[in-house]
Amino acid sequence: MGDSTSLAAGSYVIAVANQKGGVGKTTTAVSLGAELADRARVLIVDLDPQANATSSLGIDPRTPRRSTYDLLLGDASLEDVVVSSGLLNLDLAPASRALSGAQVELVELPDRDHRLARALGSPRERSPRVGGSPPSDPGGSTPNAAYDVILIDTPPSLGVLTLNALAAADGVVVPVQCEYLALEGLGQLVETLELVRGSLNPRLALLGILLTMHDPRTNLSNQVADEVRRHFPAATLGATIPRSVRLSEAPSHGRPIRLYDPSSRGAEAYAACARELTERLNRIGDRDVGVGA
Ligand SMILES: Nc1ncnc2c1ncn2[C@@H]1O[C@H](COP(=O)(O)OP(=O)(O)O)[C@@H](O)[C@H]1O
Ligand SMILES: [Mg+2]
Repeated sequence: MGDSTSLAAGSYVIAVANQKGGVGKTTTAVSLGAELADRARVLIVDLDPQANATSSLGIDPRTPRRSTYDLLLGDASLEDVVVSSGLLNLDLAPASRALSGAQVELVELPDRDHRLARALGSPRERSPRVGGSPPSDPGGSTPNAAYDVILIDTPPSLGVLTLNALAAADGVVVPVQCEYLALEGLGQLVETLELVRGSLNPRLALLGILLTMHDPRTNLSNQVADEVRRHFPAATLGATIPRSVRLSEAPSHGRPIRLYDPSSRGAEAYAACARELTERLNRIGDRDVGVGA
């Protein structure tokens, strides 16, 4: 601790989102979570009915237990749901298949887009540094005081589950696969973030666009990376995640890349990404994190 990449006090909620599937959201949530757990207390919240983050951490989503489904429906508290990942400082709020039903059930419930925010503690309760006032805590507890960073893995859609994540988050990390039409989907997502800022969560920052599955040997990969950087110079993270077999193998071993193959290029890239995000998080209280450009 004490180096320039240690995290200032406070707790931060980060949604990992992109409505496209297969772009590296889950890999990013799990790999970053494990990296950040080196310097902070981290919780990964699995909000995808496919439960890939849960199984990537070696936890079987078919085992009956309380999950983020119960959290969203208000039938369980964060404490009831959280399990240890087996890694020091890394906990998980697991998903279950029932979550796919939650998408329908939530539509009927009041305040359906703020269910997760409520379960995690409202943004004002969470971040005493913002605005400089002490946290108000009418409910008597701020459940996520136990964590410095909460990473939310989201499904490949902009439905009610992803909206819950965006409503609960201080910032969003957007993994973008270096492939054809990447920029098109990104434009749509940036519009959604603006809508969310105007309605559900004015404090939502675009923490970083993360280029994933980059293959420097192909022209297309390089072109897409250049194009994304040109359109979003401030938001795009310097760290780029290479296409790496080791990263794709790690989930089937139930281990984050930091444990599965710590010296691999993928692990090094996620470590660099974690350092960069830590610096951005430390600035988030001052609201000078690049948004949109
Ligand atoms: N950098 C990478 N290099 C190679 N394979 C990757 C990389 N990132 C993710 N993958 C693999 O690609 C697939 C999709 O990634 P995933 O993180 O599950 O995306 P999403 O959560 O956006 O659907 C998974 O099989 C994953 O293991
Ligand atoms: Mg996923």
